[in-house]
Amino acid sequence: MSKARFITLEGLDGAGKSTHLAFIRRYLEQAGIDTVFTREPGGTPLGEKLREILLDIDTEATLDTETLLMFASRQELVSSLIRPSLAAGRWVVSDRFTDATFAYQGGGRGVPAERIAILEQWVQQGLQPDLTILLDVPLEVSQARLSQSRLPDRFEREREDFHQRVRQMYLARAQANPGRFVVIDARGDIDAIQQQIAAALARLQEA
Ligand SMILES: Nc1ncnc2c1ncn2[C@@H]1O[C@H](COP(=O)(O)OP(=O)(O)O)[C@@H](O)[C@H]1O
Ligand SMILES: [Mg+2]
Repeated sequence: MSKARFITLEGLDGAGKSTHLAFIRRYLEQAGIDTVFTREPGGTPLGEKLREILLDIDTEATLDTETLLMFASRQELVSSLIRPSLAAGRWVVSDRFTDATFAYQGGGRGVPAERIAILEQWVQQGLQPDLTILLDVPLEVSQARLSQSRLPDRFEREREDFHQRVRQMYLARAQANPGRFVVIDARGDIDAIQQQIAAALARLQEA
């Protein structure tokens, strides 16, 4: 049996993470790979409470508090779900992970990357995704998709330039970590996007 893999999905809200997560679920199920699916912030009982606070438009928090809450949720997820699952040979797929903190709190809000990296080291101790799928879309596309669904959360209601910086930070991180990232143009046809995701998953199975 090959080593259990850790996969993360990243991208702006409306990029298609949830849509393609369902595809990844079907793909891995068909491949007979035992997989745990989770999301950030959240994924554990405490993490989901923190998620509620973090996304609540009435929450007021300083930048550092917001960043620390993200990592508090992540600590709980890493130690109670991600590490034990991987150790038991189960793959883990997460809707967002630490790249999102670099993108939103770092790129979007201006927390220096070095500070985020300290918390990353503290919480992950070297644990990194084996594959990060970045679903990249221009802002007009993500916002048009979002406006059709529910009310915007505390991040979604940020201004356009915030989301532009988030997108650019995601792309910069992908460029800096080409071995881990697969960047997919997520504007177009869902089938074409899913073919690219399937190819990335197949490579991961072989690796
Ligand atoms: N490639 C695509 N083409 C057209 N619509 C899409 C595409 N990908 C996602 N959508 C739609 O956009 C909306 C947001 O997608 P979703 O998967 O919820 O994004 P995310 O989880 O990244 O916020 C959904 O209504 C979804 O059906
Ligand atoms: Mg989603």
